Amino acid sequence: MRVVVTSSLRGLEPLAGHEVRGPQDWRSSLAEADALLCVLTDRVDAALLDAAPRLRAVGTVSVGYDHVDVEACRARGIAVVHTPGVLTEATADLAFGLLVAAARLFRAGGTHVASGAWTGWRMDDFVGREVHGATLGIVGHGRIGQAVERRALGFGMRVLHTSRTSGLPLPDLLRESDFVTLHVPLTESTRHLVGARELALLGRDGVLVNTSRGPVVDEAALAAALADRTIFAAGLDVYEDEPAVHPGLLASPYAVLLPHVGSATTATRLAMTRLAASGVAAVLRGETPPNQL
Ligand code: DGY
Repeated sequence: MRVVVTSSLRGLEPLAGHEVRGPQDWRSSLAEADALLCVLTDRVDAALLDAAPRLRAVGTVSVGYDHVDVEACRARGIAVVHTPGVLTEATADLAFGLLVAAARLFRAGGTHVASGAWTGWRMDDFVGREVHGATLGIVGHGRIGQAVERRALGFGMRVLHTSRTSGLPLPDLLRESDFVTLHVPLTESTRHLVGARELALLGRDGVLVNTSRGPVVDEAALAAALADRTIFAAGLDVYEDEPAVHPGLLASPYAVLLPHVGSATTATRLAMTRLAASGVAAVLRGETPPNQL
């Protein structure tokens, strides 16, 4: 069978015995593709599926699948697999790192030193927020949210959460938390889940962390809140219109910004590729893998 890959990937051993095409000119192989192995920047929509009439499986090397029209795939009998579980710890590490970095003004302090502007220690320079003993609100209490919770407990934080099935209502969580970290998938009900009203509830000492999907936060509202100092800081790994970043976030010394690298460790990226590839291989054998949506 032919499997088209859209990116250069290590960990394709589960596809041994299949013909792997791509990533160069991968679109030109779609017409003959039995399976597609893609990443989160590939939009798998009806137009792409129309160009790939033989397709039986789509594997995305990501846990998030908002870039895949899963219903359109199902309607064509195409199985979709993704990579839950294997990126949990790496993503939770990054989220917690962003939390500390934002709380302790890593961007402002780091830029100050790197620019050569630092002339000496001062009592009032780059004074941040205490992490230990603070309250963390976790929005979305799935695998990654719970992994962040474990880290927070190790830092002596009080932890609250909100999810579809448990925890506090979001407004109460925002009011009670010093830090809020987002771990929900992007769906129509989570788009702009955090906007001006929610940021106001988080308050001027609040810190927001987002490693989920950019559109979960209204970026213009966040940029305005940082500029007006109505929240303290933000740690962001994801953006509404990647790779574009709101100019207000680029300009704010209180926004720690990373380029969507939550799962970017060597071991995790390898595990993700292997999991997606083994799911695709299973579908091509006529099986239903556990990571099928
Ligand atoms: C995912 O897997 O959805 C992350 O955003 C990137 O690894």
